[in-house]
Amino acid sequence: MKRLRLTTAGESHGPGLTAVLSGLPAGLAVDSEFIARDMRRRMHGYGRGHRMQIEQDEAVIRGGVRDGETLGSPVTFWIENRDFENWREVMDPYRVDPDRAEKRRLKSPRPGHADLAGGLKYLRRDLRDVLERASARESAARVAAGALAKLLLAQFGVEIRSGVRYLGALGADRPVPDWSDLEKVDDTSPLRAIHRDLEPQMVELVDRTKKDGDTLGGAVTVIAHSVPPGWGSYVHWDEKLDGRLAQALMSVPAVKAIEFGSALEASKGPGSAAHDAIERTSEGAWQRLTNRAGGLEGGVTNGEDVVATAYKKPISTLRTGLPSVDLDTLEPHRSQYERSDVTALPAAGVIAEAMMALVLADAALEKYGGDSMEEVLLHFNASRERQRRWPG
Ligand SMILES: Cc1cc2nc3c(=O)[nH]c(=O)nc-3n(C[C@H](O)[C@H](O)[C@H](O)COP(=O)(O)O)c2cc1C
Repeated sequence: MKRLRLTTAGESHGPGLTAVLSGLPAGLAVDSEFIARDMRRRMHGYGRGHRMQIEQDEAVIRGGVRDGETLGSPVTFWIENRDFENWREVMDPYRVDPDRAEKRRLKSPRPGHADLAGGLKYLRRDLRDVLERASARESAARVAAGALAKLLLAQFGVEIRSGVRYLGALGADRPVPDWSDLEKVDDTSPLRAIHRDLEPQMVELVDRTKKDGDTLGGAVTVIAHSVPPGWGSYVHWDEKLDGRLAQALMSVPAVKAIEFGSALEASKGPGSAAHDAIERTSEGAWQRLTNRAGGLEGGVTNGEDVVATAYKKPISTLRTGLPSVDLDTLEPHRSQYERSDVTALPAAGVIAEAMMALVLADAALEKYGGDSMEEVLLHFNASRERQRRWPG
């Protein structure tokens, strides 16, 4: 991100998480309930482990906001880890209890996690040093920052939603959802499923998989609605918005593939069935009858909804473990079990929303830049007005 910059810090069972978001203009109204709502949404979901019952994530603002408005300075969040109380002797920044730490030492790397690669990279004997930062707990900090990005986007009339497109193979054969499908997603439903009719079967699948000691993946779709045309760039490879969004969405833990619009389907057919015919309405608006491109052509928004699906691998920690090696004996050993979710797809959708919001907010500031919201909105309104008259 060029205008916006997000840095997060903190370990999963350490004292807490920090997020520092710089680059927001001054004068953006900050709605604490909106941030709290997204923090709650990230914690929700059938198939989550015990941890989510302990945590009650609250993103406390420690800087950059005064009297409910951004100041232009970095906005800093602090999210306390309530579980730290149970881990103090193992995770204290200055002194751990050697016996307790040894008991919690991770020494059989879990396939699918950063454990082995991180151990080799940082030369840590206790792979907990890797696990603690590589854990998806960090995503709570991103969701807090993402909520601010969403508040900025709302100033341009842009809204972002997500839903679980499929779980395991359940729903994988259904078409790519659109905005009206996501509007119907019930955030309080067990799996935030786009296809509500499949939800009872999904719940059963989670129960069955949990009983077997196994885990599940699937896919979430995230859509940004009412995005103006012209965000992003086709001029430089690293400024293409599809690439920037893909990077950000791919950084959601366990996401292994990103699709825009109906790219997978389109790749299998001819060009005549892959693109979106252009029309101009009698009122002078540009429109498409389909949105197979997912709102992006040449790395630039084209005025249609930005539609992305993130494909998530099944959770890597299995109760029965997977073939691995014990670092002490160097003999084969099943990977260690660490309290874990069966699936975290509903939460992954909320994190994907945050990542999409941060990238789109960055692109919006690139297009309408300014130090204050007043300037940014002036530029936005002028650009919208000028686009309406185009090509005149
Ligand atoms: C919200 C969320 C919660 C997760 N919870 C767990 C978990 O409890 N156990 C686990 O093994 N992996 C969990 N994961 C997945 C791991 O974080 C992920 O597989 C791991 O970091 C390696 O992913 P990577 O290959 O994408 O880096 C979760 C992911 C998300 C998005």
